[in-house]
Amino acid sequence: MFATPAGMAIEIRGLNKTFSHKPAISRLNLEIGAGEMVALIGASGSGKSTLLRHIAGLSCCDKTQGGQVHVLGQTVQSNGFLSRDARRLRARVGYIFQQFNLVDRLSVLENTLLGFLGQIPHWRGCMRLFSAEQKELAMEALARVGLAEIARQRASTLSGGQQQRVAIARALTQKAEIILADEPIASLDPESARKVMEILESINARDGKTIVVTLHQVDYALRYCRRAVALKNGQIVFDGDTENLNGAFLDSLYSVTGSVPELRASGKWRMPPGSAGIAANEIAREIPHQNLLLAAGYQ
Ligand SMILES: Nc1ncnc2c1ncn2[C@@H]1O[C@H](COP(=O)(O)OP(=O)(O)O)[C@@H](O)[C@H]1O
Ligand SMILES: [Mg+2]
Repeated sequence: MFATPAGMAIEIRGLNKTFSHKPAISRLNLEIGAGEMVALIGASGSGKSTLLRHIAGLSCCDKTQGGQVHVLGQTVQSNGFLSRDARRLRARVGYIFQQFNLVDRLSVLENTLLGFLGQIPHWRGCMRLFSAEQKELAMEALARVGLAEIARQRASTLSGGQQQRVAIARALTQKAEIILADEPIASLDPESARKVMEILESINARDGKTIVVTLHQVDYALRYCRRAVALKNGQIVFDGDTENLNGAFLDSLYSVTGSVPELRASGKWRMPPGSAGIAANEIAREIPHQNLLLAAGYQ
């Protein structure tokens, strides 16, 4: 057991991740308290997805000076090695992807039931495995995201926004204590995006779940998250109240020029309360394809 400060959901110490000699995450330290809702922002390629994957133990940090990731008081990984607890911890972390990761040919209810996979020791791939009680819980989760009425419908018939809400219901069914959402609204229309963010906000406020959400649209971060962590070139260039983000800082965050030291020197590191939000106009880079079972916290 790692001695984490009380109430800490995620603790990252000196994380380094290098891909082909190019650093994707550099000496990153981050603490997120239980029950926080944090927006992870930054331009495409700044390291947001890589960071989330390390928190979930889906990616391993560098073997030399790789640092450590602790989740819910236990070690996920340290210096390039996943801990023995990593798999068990994954079941307590829900992962939501831009592309929803539903099984098209299964119903909404069946997709939601997949959230139980992490709790079944030897999954045999059979829907009959699920008990009446589990079905009841899955229906409750669907009601929570406003989709109970279409529980029997095939996932393939749903709109993008509905599919993302099923993915959230699956994380609820999983009883995830932490939800990591990687660009959950990047491919949704504004109305669906708003609904998805409101559901995440309510899961945070009502159920006290810790949520880390990467957002390309900074205006959504400002509207729904109290705290923002901004990445640039794999380093944190802002960590604070979203109220303290302003247009000039965000311009520099999304500009292709300007290194981290330059940003620090510019005094834009922590901005006074100012004008809110610009929408970043970059198109989210496709995240790598993820295994559904990973999404359900199974592996
Ligand atoms: N599997 C990978 N192999 C090689 N490079 C990668 C891989 N995943 C990410 N990267 C690189 O790491 C950096 C950060 O990527 P990523 O975390 O996907 O950024 P973001 O999610 O902020 O767009 C980028 O330079 C990207 O090209
Ligand atoms: Mg990404």
